[in-house]
Amino acid sequence: MLHYPAMTDADLDAVAAAERRIYSFPWTRGNFADSLAAGHGAWLAREDGEMTGYAVVMPAPDEVHLLNISVLPELQRRGRGAALLIRLFDLARMQGARRMLLEVRAGNVSGRGFYRRHGFSEIGLRRDYYPALEGRENAIVMAHDL
Ligand SMILES: CC(C)(COP(=O)(O)OP(=O)(O)OC[C@H]1O[C@@H](n2cnc3c(N)ncnc32)[C@H](O)[C@@H]1OP(=O)(O)O)[C@@H](O)C(=O)NCCC(=O)NCCS
Repeated sequence: MLHYPAMTDADLDAVAAAERRIYSFPWTRGNFADSLAAGHGAWLAREDGEMTGYAVVMPAPDEVHLLNISVLPELQRRGRGAALLIRLFDLARMQGARRMLLEVRAGNVSGRGFYRRHGFSEIGLRRDYYPALEGRENAIVMAHDL
């Protein structure tokens, strides 16, 4: 069974361990803890009790900023990211948001394609936004009208 429970402090070790497997520059356990403490929306995707992914969003009056969406490496490319994103769209709409925003690494070609296919368009650039192996990497800002 698939469900999307709220992330709690009890999930932080597992989430941070997954994050380290997914990203070269992962969020730390403290980054996730800070998000929970700040009241951001944070959800797990669970299938038959096992975590398959997670997402963190920062709500603002009219907008929701997607801060993190991740699927475990061995489970990617089978529709789970799309299902999680659609769930986030529904939650954001229910909270009255009209737009979802995100940043993605300029070099994350598959991530940019994933978001474009789900209705996002590229609206801006933040120079040197992310750490990179050499120097810094630009972020592309993407937005989707809900
Ligand atoms: C980005 C991410 C969340 C998407 O989740 P996902 O579960 O892999 O996404 P989906 O399976 O819904 O769609 C992704 C791809 O799989 C393809 N796909 C979906 N279902 C498929 C299926 N049944 N068979 C084959 N391919 C499929 C999609 O067309 C899409 O293609 P593309 O990557 O070649 O463009 C996930 O890949 C991830 O965690 N990536 C690493 C972290 C990351 O980059 N996060 C976003 C940074 S902002």
